[in-house]
Amino acid sequence: MKPEILLIEPMLDVIEARLDEAYVVHRHYAATEQEAIAKALPSIRAVVTGGGTGLSNDQIDRLPALGIIAINGVGTDKVDLVRARGRDIDVTTTPDVLTDDVADTGIALMLAVLRHIAKGDRFVREGCWALGEAFPLGTSPKGKRLGILGLGQIGRALGRRAEAFGMTIGYWNRSPQTDTGWTAHATPTELAASSDVLAVCVAANASTQDLVNSEVLEALGPKAIVINIARGSVLDEDALIQALRNGTLAGAGLDVFVGEPRIREDFFTAPNTVLMPHQGSATRETRIAMGEIVLANLQAFFNGEKPPTTVN
Ligand code: DGY
Repeated sequence: MKPEILLIEPMLDVIEARLDEAYVVHRHYAATEQEAIAKALPSIRAVVTGGGTGLSNDQIDRLPALGIIAINGVGTDKVDLVRARGRDIDVTTTPDVLTDDVADTGIALMLAVLRHIAKGDRFVREGCWALGEAFPLGTSPKGKRLGILGLGQIGRALGRRAEAFGMTIGYWNRSPQTDTGWTAHATPTELAASSDVLAVCVAANASTQDLVNSEVLEALGPKAIVINIARGSVLDEDALIQALRNGTLAGAGLDVFVGEPRIREDFFTAPNTVLMPHQGSATRETRIAMGEIVLANLQAFFNGEKPPTTVN
């Protein structure tokens, strides 16, 4: 008998085909199948979910046979790691393989905001170019200061890319990271005061909730922009929207939001703001690499071994 697993979020077709070969896969994301899922719950031993989706404590409590939560991503903010360990449930992630794509997304958002790329696309499609309307000049990244909030793997990869654009790099990190040669700042506010672009790369948890607040945004100032490739919860969205509306911040590039995918409509009208649907790791290559790690973790678990990328 194949083991039964629950898939909370769609994965790449080729990875789902491999899951179907090895397991009985219950797909929770299809509303029509909820009833069948409810019946299957007692026999579910593994859940595969996304970093932005996770698994709630309520869901964990409804799965008595659960032994592994395999996150298809690196964010663990949507799973209670301590609660899971208390139930002897392994939680795994897909480290390393998505670093470059997420860092690329940070660069893409930064350039999109500084060079008005999304606005330019609309300008051409809407015929404004043909009518000879004026298009605003952008801002060159060269010689500007990138402030990286959270110098983990993604923050570092972003910094290396930004150096190639001629930017200088500063960072704030809870523990000191001296090997980069980049300028360390004691607080997020100090970092912001020394940055033209603030990139939010820090992991979401209780201590980083609203870390980028009105004080940090004020320190950034009216010529600076903010980029968020971490989690919506790290950025105080009320303060951000107000700063964008008041012109006390020049722009924002956001891949992640509180309450996504149903984000605040205020963002749709916020000036000089580029929005992306949490697609930092969304390339075929990376999603295959992530899927392989998920498969390896499941296989180890069902073989009675420790899953290789367990985080709790
Ligand atoms: C992650 O890896 O956590 C990404 O945000 C995808 O969810």
